[in-house]
Amino acid sequence: MHIDLYFTPHQTDELALRERTVVVIDVLRASTTIITALSNGAREIIPVATVESAVKISGNHFGDVILLGGERNGRMIDGFNLGNSPAEYTVERVKGKAVIFSTTNGSQALVKARYARELFVCGFVNVGTVAEALWRTPRDFTILCAGSDGLLSMEDSVCAGMLISRVGAGGETDPELSDGALVARTLHRTFGRGILKMIRSSDHGRRLAEIGFDGDLRYCAGVDTLPVLPLLEGNVIKLRSEVEKKEAVDHSQET
Ligand code: MLT
Repeated sequence: MHIDLYFTPHQTDELALRERTVVVIDVLRASTTIITALSNGAREIIPVATVESAVKISGNHFGDVILLGGERNGRMIDGFNLGNSPAEYTVERVKGKAVIFSTTNGSQALVKARYARELFVCGFVNVGTVAEALWRTPRDFTILCAGSDGLLSMEDSVCAGMLISRVGAGGETDPELSDGALVARTLHRTFGRGILKMIRSSDHGRRLAEIGFDGDLRYCAGVDTLPVLPLLEGNVIKLRSEVEKKEAVDHSQET
């Protein structure tokens, strides 16, 4: 098993990610928000790169089955229903709804990886579940960190390192690591014992605390609090359990 890693989406392109297994990580906060929304019963998340495409896509849907969610500069976008704080994505707000989702960095990473053979969304909150999926069916994979405005972010890198360590611990043979993956694993070994402290001292963590989202930092630092596996199915992100349920129904209708 070979693991490689990009610290930001700017380091790669759609072609390089095509047909790969890709894990997208944006701890603060897009990954954590997507994982939370799906855990709380959202039907699907539709990641889009721009506010304009979000509004355009939502125009094709009627009623209150669709929500617009996301941020620019950490705050809710004008005219949207939800921002990018996982605390907003409660069962009451999202159950049964599709969320069209656009954020500054996380959505860009997801859109860039949209031609992957399989794509998983990972944060600290579900890192064990993603690791288990990868070591149970070993295959080469690429970690794509969202970073922040084209720069490496500490929290994504440490989460990537935790994922790599967990995959290594679960599998029978040690994975082969690219230099980027090795650096992330080393960062996790150095900072992994104090996740919240590391997040609070990161660039984006400090910015979010300044604009009133300190509670999100604590939430996003929780390890294995939401044991679910979000994956890309067509152009939308769903929980693996929902995808499997649909496959079982389709199969029983065919036979
Ligand atoms: C992003 O995608 O850039 C982040 O999720 C920003 C944020 O924390 O809202």
